Amino acid sequence: MTVQFQQESLSGRLKTVKPSPTIAITRLATELRRGGADIIALSQGEPDFDTPDHIKAAAKKAIDDGATKYTDVDGIPELKRAIVQKFRNENGLDYETTNISVGTGGKQVIFNAFSATLDAGDEVIIPAPYWVSYPDIVLLTGGVPVAVACGEESGFKLTASALEAAITPRTKWLVLNSPSNPTGAGYSAAELKAIAEVLLRHPRVLVLTDDMYEHIRYDGWEFSTIAAVEPRLHERVLTCNGVSKAYAMTGWRIGYAGGPAALIRAMATIQSQSTTNPSSISQAAAVAALTGPSTSSPRAMPSSRSGAICAWPRSMRRPASPAGRPTAPSTCFRPARD
Ligand SMILES: Cc1ncc(COP(=O)(O)O)c(C=O)c1O
Repeated sequence: MTVQFQQESLSGRLKTVKPSPTIAITRLATELRRGGADIIALSQGEPDFDTPDHIKAAAKKAIDDGATKYTDVDGIPELKRAIVQKFRNENGLDYETTNISVGTGGKQVIFNAFSATLDAGDEVIIPAPYWVSYPDIVLLTGGVPVAVACGEESGFKLTASALEAAITPRTKWLVLNSPSNPTGAGYSAAELKAIAEVLLRHPRVLVLTDDMYEHIRYDGWEFSTIAAVEPRLHERVLTCNGVSKAYAMTGWRIGYAGGPAALIRAMATIQSQSTTNPSSISQAAAVAALTGPSTSSPRAMPSSRSGAICAWPRSMRRPASPAGRPTAPSTCFRPARD
């Protein structure tokens, strides 16, 4: 007799989360494309340039050199050193290699951080609109996502007063994402400073800043990250980033973070019991990305491109950022009622 798998066999935790909608939309677009449809999929944040050649060459060399074995759990020393330099040179952040964690994509790094810190009932403040995975990762790791609506009037950004109102005795984390997926809004140093002032009054709240789109931005806009803007927060900020978007390496699956050494060690414990280590070959490629020519990342894109994107389709003519245009090209975001 064949016994069917019962839905009830799934865990209660799984029933609270949805599969990633961006992945579902991408799968549908791929299927339609296979059927001959001419589709532009705007769901996944996929850069429209290829992984640069010197990065591919480093990966091929790693295979030939036999770098095909298990590595240190949260990153090889060369990659950690390259990340320390990146944070120092590009962001003015001082980390040692003991403050660095490398995971299988930025998503795993965020998953590790929440797994390592959230207990049942712990709240995570997520400014909305948000990248769809944040609340589900919080739910999967046992926490409670608290979405704080950030409307057009604030350029879809969290204000100091909205943050103050959202903090409760159960707040464990604040998530910041700048430039933002999906709104393209970026926080200025002054805006981050105002948020930092609130956080200084709430010393138990940790900050996860997701800077994944740092390099995907229009020229004329300056990127800032909260631990550099307010060094007094340095010890409770996890600065997350990765090579996926900056170097068109979404398929290579390398993300990283800088943060307090005790948190980084806890994240390594989680990772050691899940994926063990990020791909050895991808790590070698990430070293080449971070230490190679800066022109291998798109850096600032011409703002003429923002004009083109926001002029099309016509219904997108009034972009939402207060500067009149989004600061980053992830999306030209408009509320549905328009
Ligand atoms: C805001 C944001 N953070 C993190 C990620 C995850 O990046 P990775 O592909 O390195 O896991 C994405 C992916 O789309 C994203 O949009």
